[in-house]
Amino acid sequence: MRLDKFLANMGMGTRTEVKQLLKKGEVTVNETQEKSPKAHINPSVDKVKVHEEIVQYIDKIYLMLNKPQGYVSATEDDKHKTVIDLVGKYRYLDVFPVGRLDKDTEGLLLITNDGQFNHDLMSPSKHVSKTYEVISEKTITKNDIELFKSGIALDEGLVKPADLVQCDEERRSLVTIYEGRYHQVKRMFHAINNEVIALKRMSIGDLQLDQSLAPGEYRQLTQEDFKKLGLK
Ligand code: URA
Repeated sequence: MRLDKFLANMGMGTRTEVKQLLKKGEVTVNETQEKSPKAHINPSVDKVKVHEEIVQYIDKIYLMLNKPQGYVSATEDDKHKTVIDLVGKYRYLDVFPVGRLDKDTEGLLLITNDGQFNHDLMSPSKHVSKTYEVISEKTITKNDIELFKSGIALDEGLVKPADLVQCDEERRSLVTIYEGRYHQVKRMFHAINNEVIALKRMSIGDLQLDQSLAPGEYRQLTQEDFKKLGLK
């Protein structure tokens, strides 16, 4: 890979800024000063430093985003802001959202550039659970809980049994689903003659939304997080 591309991709500045860094002699490759933007390096082998600091090579990236309302779960959109706009500094790594949350849904959204990771979490055969906090128009009843447990019928057929739990506050509940159909939670509530007023994803598998992340904030996944997802 060209040295200027590597440095720009690792967030060291635009191609022009990176060229300036090189010209000023701020960059070394394997402890030898390198001034040519055209120099070729092998990012997994060569040790590149800027201002004496090692530039870590990242190729696969895994982010946990607290998605705010008003953003679409897409990489590009003509009309709306996308979740990728929120993690713009990683756009060059071709990141994309793992599954989708509706524009008005908040909460835990994973973002990666690893297709296998996406498949491992989204493939229906993997049955990874997703838990949502729901504010509904009406307070849920014992009967609703039973209906969710036995499998709600949507237009395309029965959905897998889901767990519905009443929270302390009226009209607030937690629902855990085991598949990811289009508008699934909203349609399940509609099917029991109720409506979702607000929706927030709290967890995927055993991985919970990091409560220290304000809406719009994100952080990289840790080894502990991967374990909670049952991966690695
Ligand atoms: N179910 C929905 O209805 N919307 C979401 O965003 C996620 C699950």
